[in-house]
Formats: sequence, C-alpha cells, structure tokens
Amino acid sequence: MVKIAPSILAADFSNLEEEIKQVSKAEYLHLDVMDGHFVPNITIGPLVVEAISDKTDQLLDAHLMIENPDQYIPDFADSGAELITVHAEACPHLHRTVQNIKEQEVKAGVALNPATPLTALDHILPELDLVLLMTVNPGFGGQKFIEDMLPKINRLRKRIEQNNLDIDIQVDGGIKPYNVDRVVEAGANVIVAGSAIFGSDDPGQAVVDLQESCK
Ligand code: DX5
Ligand code: ZN
Repeated sequence: MVKIAPSILAADFSNLEEEIKQVSKAEYLHLDVMDGHFVPNITIGPLVVEAISDKTDQLLDAHLMIENPDQYIPDFADSGAELITVHAEACPHLHRTVQNIKEQEVKAGVALNPATPLTALDHILPELDLVLLMTVNPGFGGQKFIEDMLPKINRLRKRIEQNNLDIDIQVDGGIKPYNVDRVVEAGANVIVAGSAIFGSDDPGQAVVDLQESCK
C-alpha cells in the first residue's frame, strides 16, 4: 500500500496544530530538519518534534538534513520520531550511524541526493527500513521534480525485489497529483508532499486526492 507523508515545511508554522489536524488521514507526518550547513536553510529541531508528537497519531518521520546527525539521533528518538532518516552524503561512517538509529529502537532510513548514485547503498541496504530518494536537491520546498529520478527509483525497486528485502522507497520533492502515479509505478511507496498538500486550499482533500492518484 502506498502511504502519504505530508511535509510540514509548507505548512503555516504559526498555526501548526490546526494544519496537522487537517492532514490526519495521511499515514506519516514528514518533518524536515535542516541545519544551515548540510543544506542552506534552517528549520526545526527536537523541541518542535516533541510538541507535534502530542498532537497526532501519525508516524513521525524525521528527515535529517544535517551534518553530524549521530550527535542528535537520541534527541530525535526521545522527542517522538519513529523513523529517522539520515543523508548518506553527511555520514562518513554510515554503517555506524544506521546502527545508532537502530539502537534507539526506531526505524532507520537513508536518503540520497539526486546526484548520489545507488551504489552509496552497497553494504548497508539490508540494514534499512527505508530509502529516501530525493527528487529535488534538498533545502527548500516548492522545487521542480527531477524527471531523471524515475529510472533511479525503478532500479532501486528491482534491486530490493531481487534481494527479497522488505524496504520502503520514499520519494521527496516536487511530487504533485500529475506525477505521483509515475513515481508509484517506478516503485516508490511512501510519498512526501509539501506544497501540493499545504499549498492547496484544502490540505485534507489534497491528501485524499494523492491517495486516489496512487491507486
Ligand atoms: C526538501 C524537503 C521536502 C520538501 C518537499 O528539502 O526535504 O520534504 O518539504 O516540498 P515539496 O513537496 O513542495 O517539493
Ligand atoms: Zn523532506
């Protein structure tokens, strides 16, 4: 089953509780954590994740776009994140970092930037619960989907199937009703959407529309 993960990056932060309520039909809630170093933008930390965790039963999905994530993994797990995703590009000791996430007894994800090849997952793939394939360069919402990522999604799905693994493929960046069917067809099963949901007049309906477009 395909799951939708609204990214609160595109929500009204002055009214976050109401914004989150509107998208409660989505299975995940995607939380973009940016440090101003790994990416050129700064967003939220564990304090905000903890505040949100009281307000929803959705799976809290922390996408860490930060350098040195090991330093903060326990804080994000304590704050209520149930899936912690780190960027391969930010982790010189990726295997150790993934073990650090698993020690917190939360799901472990690894994200790849558009220009990072799938070979970055060699030797780590069987350890993962999820791979996040970025379909824009991380840092900002509202960017254009990079079409060239479709064959990358498909190659990863085939590799997961060939190895009899049970790993989610999440896609993030520029996903809209017009292209969501193609990312699902390519093999993605967790769909992040920011502006397509919170930029619409009715975010709750936008979640339902995306779910319908995936069927
Ligand atoms: C970008 C973030 C995304 C962002 C997606 O670095 O990781 O999660 O919120 O926003 P849209 O869906 O607007 O491209
Ligand atoms: Zn994200």
